Amino acid sequence: MAVFTAAEKRSTPESNFPAQRGEFEFNNNHAFHDLRTVRVTPGGVPLLFSPSVCEKATIVSFHQTTIQSPAEAMPLQPVVRHLSIREAPAKSNFDQALEGLTLDDVSSTSALVSCQHAFSGTHTTPLVVPIYHSSTYIMDRLEDGTPAIIDGSSVYSRLGNPTCEMTEAAINAVERGAGSLTFASGMAAVTSVFLGFLNTGDHVSHLKKPIPMLQLLWLETPCNPNILIVDVQAVLDLVKDRDILVGVDSTFASPHCQQMMKLGVDFCMHSCSKYIGGHSDLIGGCVTTRTVEQWRILKHVQGTFGNMLSPHDASLLLRGLRTLPLRMKRHSETALEVARYLDQHPKSPHDASLLLRGLRTLPLRMKRHSETALEVARYLDQHPKVERVNYPGLESHPQHEIAKRQMTGGYSGMIMAEIKGGSKGGETVAENVRIFRMAVSLGGVQSILEHPYTMTHGKYLLSEEETKNSGVTPGMLRISIGLEDAADLIADFKQALEKVEL
Ligand SMILES: Cc1ncc(COP(=O)(O)O)c(C=O)c1O
Repeated sequence: MAVFTAAEKRSTPESNFPAQRGEFEFNNNHAFHDLRTVRVTPGGVPLLFSPSVCEKATIVSFHQTTIQSPAEAMPLQPVVRHLSIREAPAKSNFDQALEGLTLDDVSSTSALVSCQHAFSGTHTTPLVVPIYHSSTYIMDRLEDGTPAIIDGSSVYSRLGNPTCEMTEAAINAVERGAGSLTFASGMAAVTSVFLGFLNTGDHVSHLKKPIPMLQLLWLETPCNPNILIVDVQAVLDLVKDRDILVGVDSTFASPHCQQMMKLGVDFCMHSCSKYIGGHSDLIGGCVTTRTVEQWRILKHVQGTFGNMLSPHDASLLLRGLRTLPLRMKRHSETALEVARYLDQHPKSPHDASLLLRGLRTLPLRMKRHSETALEVARYLDQHPKVERVNYPGLESHPQHEIAKRQMTGGYSGMIMAEIKGGSKGGETVAENVRIFRMAVSLGGVQSILEHPYTMTHGKYLLSEEETKNSGVTPGMLRISIGLEDAADLIADFKQALEKVEL
């Protein structure tokens, strides 16, 4: 059972770095333009706040301490260390070269579409990964327990579920890290990284150039909602001789459009509720790590806190109960409670199987999203009622050259367009489109758009000051291009823009 030293977790001893408070002062380097604001609650649980596009960002620096009130009696690391669970990420047929093929022999598209769980000991393998509902697994002999845990056999579904593991192997086949993990949501994924790799609880600190006490850089690119690009390579170059972890939220691009692990980041995270799921019917998240040790730490966090994509939904639970008809009344009452609980926590092997289905078509969808988005962005860019358009594939995008280098699989489907006429202009277009639907989220097969100034970055979420700092302007629209024909989407914008009065 591995024990992770402070050095392995890249912790910073408090005594060397007294805490500071304040705000990070940006230099003009675009690399740091889009850091998310990160804070720590008094209970020690880190949270992400506010939009990522800030003129100023507050960045955490955590110290080598235990969690403070109200969880001060529970130092994080020992709890995580004591949980013994499997020691290595799940493997697919390509990882194990079962047919003589490795991931290096096939394109990431082929790997995604055809990777299979490396099941052993059976004569046949199901083509579609079954949904494993079992919460626990039978052992024949007592001595099988420890090897089962270590070799990755399922023991208890909080610690590992074959459906989730196959999904993780498929994600890793395209991300190409040491291993991946799936979570109940994107936010569960990111908070797990914080819980595993930061010693929480003491300070929200700031960074003064040249970042004297930074523990973790958490980047997002393309970032929400401005669709600006962080030059990840430049960030890595800047911190390369320093003991700093770098994580990237790559949700807006999907693993098809950019593979951050190849650049050498420590973590690549996605909200799978977006492109990877792709059908707007699941909530999930994933993280890929650079090293197996990091994967293990994250796996231990997940096993301890139970925020995995887990077995259960109400009807399947009812079926799984296998109980006597005489107890039906009792079952019904219990099931209602469980169903209500599960309804608030939409996470299950069923979601994992949807996720895997989404992964199979991801390359095709991303190609189409990227091509259509470029056409729509070009149209909007020349329209007299549009103030400006940010789409990484447009030459006019301020970081087009970085995007060209970084987004090798396409520029994805996210466009920011600022409509003339301020909030009224943005609202008019948002309310008059007919094929686009007005909705938050992104990355689905249907085209949707939202008006950040009144919706995701509106008054109910951010203070006036925060809205100002976020770079969100009243006329801005965040557009997620779906799979419809570009000509229809352009015609939709044309008629909606005609209604804008200047
Ligand atoms: C870029 C980005 N990261 C993370 C998240 C959080 O993901 P989820 O909603 O799956 O928790 C979202 C979605 O709101 C997002 O857009």
